[in-house]
Amino acid sequence: MGTTCGLTIDPLCRYVRALVICFILLPCIQLSLGAKTRHFKWEVEYKYWSPDCVENIVMAINGQFPGPTIRAKVGDTINVELSNKLSTEGVAIHWHGIRQIGTPWADGTASISQCAINPGETYNYRFRVDKPGTYFYHGHLGMQRSAGLYGSLIVDLAEGEKEPFYYDGELNLLLSDWWHKNIHDQEIGLFTNPFRWVGESQSLLINGRGQYNCSLAAKFSSNTSISQCKLRGAEQCAPKILQVLPNKTYRLRLASATSLASLNLAIGNHKMLVVEADGNYVQPFEVDDLDIYSGESYSVLLTTNQDPNNNYWLSIGVRGRLPQTPQGLTILNYKPNSASKLPISAPPITPVWNDYNHSKAFTNKILALMGTPKPPVNHDRRIILLNTQNKINGYTKWALNNVSLVLPPTPYLGSIKYGLKNAFDQKNPPENFDSINYDVTKPPVNPNSTYGNGVYMLGFNTTVDVILQNANALSANVSEIHPWHLHGHDFWVLGYGDGKFSAENDEKKLNLKNPPLRNSAIIFPYGWTALRFVADNPGVWAFHCHIEPHLHMGMGVVFAEGVDRLSTIPNEGLTCGLTGKMFSGQKN
Ligand code: C2O
Ligand code: CU
Repeated sequence: MGTTCGLTIDPLCRYVRALVICFILLPCIQLSLGAKTRHFKWEVEYKYWSPDCVENIVMAINGQFPGPTIRAKVGDTINVELSNKLSTEGVAIHWHGIRQIGTPWADGTASISQCAINPGETYNYRFRVDKPGTYFYHGHLGMQRSAGLYGSLIVDLAEGEKEPFYYDGELNLLLSDWWHKNIHDQEIGLFTNPFRWVGESQSLLINGRGQYNCSLAAKFSSNTSISQCKLRGAEQCAPKILQVLPNKTYRLRLASATSLASLNLAIGNHKMLVVEADGNYVQPFEVDDLDIYSGESYSVLLTTNQDPNNNYWLSIGVRGRLPQTPQGLTILNYKPNSASKLPISAPPITPVWNDYNHSKAFTNKILALMGTPKPPVNHDRRIILLNTQNKINGYTKWALNNVSLVLPPTPYLGSIKYGLKNAFDQKNPPENFDSINYDVTKPPVNPNSTYGNGVYMLGFNTTVDVILQNANALSANVSEIHPWHLHGHDFWVLGYGDGKFSAENDEKKLNLKNPPLRNSAIIFPYGWTALRFVADNPGVWAFHCHIEPHLHMGMGVVFAEGVDRLSTIPNEGLTCGLTGKMFSGQKN
């Protein structure tokens, strides 16, 4: 046997070498099979930024806008140590779409699952991701999502598991809308009499980038047009080009963190195959364009089967409101074409804003993939929520069954667990409205409403139906889209209908066979939407319209279930004003 293990073919030497390699690799293999804890240290602060080429301030995380993307595998634990570096306001971050099973104090809803994290404090968000899918996170205090506090959260399958579809690569698109008016200005306007609405956004952003008053097309045509933009921070607003190879299949992950806009997305010449909605697989169906409402996420498969000598536009535009915001654009760049080669055809046109039949046709195609859990056939309780715009002492509000939500200072989770009777309204909020006499097609006869912060106490493990009933707003002939989002659960979307829900006629039309499981669903103007979920996750959970100004004006309710089953709530989930050094700091 030689003294070195160089190129020798000595069998013993080969054996020893193999053994050494095994020893080195073994721990790695084991690690990749097992779940991990992924640690993040984040600092939230205001920062100058030019999301749409106009300088403004954003709520940045570690100096970035949008915040860093979290990528994890099913079974992993995410640990975000969030430090509030804002000088004068609290903060809280919600992990949208993550059910927080067993960790309701990590849901990130100020006044519900925790106190706002004060300036200078650190909060430890620690939770498991138990389901693959496309998610995101965002601020959940005041209107901090509108201030730009958001980012992507993507959960991959556990090692060795396979998706029910194939793709060669993936692209991630986080969609949002952007105002030049800061959130304080926006908030004050909403709470002023006479009311000042936030208006339509100045720009739509794709991965935090948009172009205000500066045509993207111009940017690509020549350098002189770039200088026409004469705007600072061009590198912050330059579109993220989507680079692809011809004849491959890509998974596009889409999530909408918009504050207001319902969006429609299309890619020139290409069709898309919808395969995932809100972290659940759906029966694949093909579309030319897709509607995505605030709080929703999708995966679509895109096959790059068009002329490889061209690039193509990807566009997003506003639906459901008279658009005053230009389309958001980026380019699907077929390699090896240059990214600055302009597509030969114009960007796809967004369907007419009020073509609700187009939206309904799309929404009705979304059905659960076979193998998705089915809803229980019966419900134990049915809560009907009438969505109305109202007035309280002259202020414009949104209300559910005539109650406009104002969150209490003490978070519900702790006050329910420890029976603090004066922390919130102990009366049950209304289960229904006067459906016989209320005309949902007309402005409210008596628009006066009341503030409230009561909780729907749900029996643990009971099956709850929620019928969201849309109505006319304060002005005649106006009824808006509201995208509703539930924390802590996925629900089955049993159906959509026009007019007033009638148990007699509509009950039998509900889909109990293959309703999609989701965490967000819309109500169409003058329509209703029926949802079903099982109250099986101990905690206190927000259920609200995901339009940021609407929630701020009271458009939400609170559910609680099984709080008595939580053995301990970590101190940081209970106590307000805890500093970073004092938090209970659970170990791995
Ligand atoms: Cu993404 Cu309570 O919301
Ligand atoms: Cu709304």
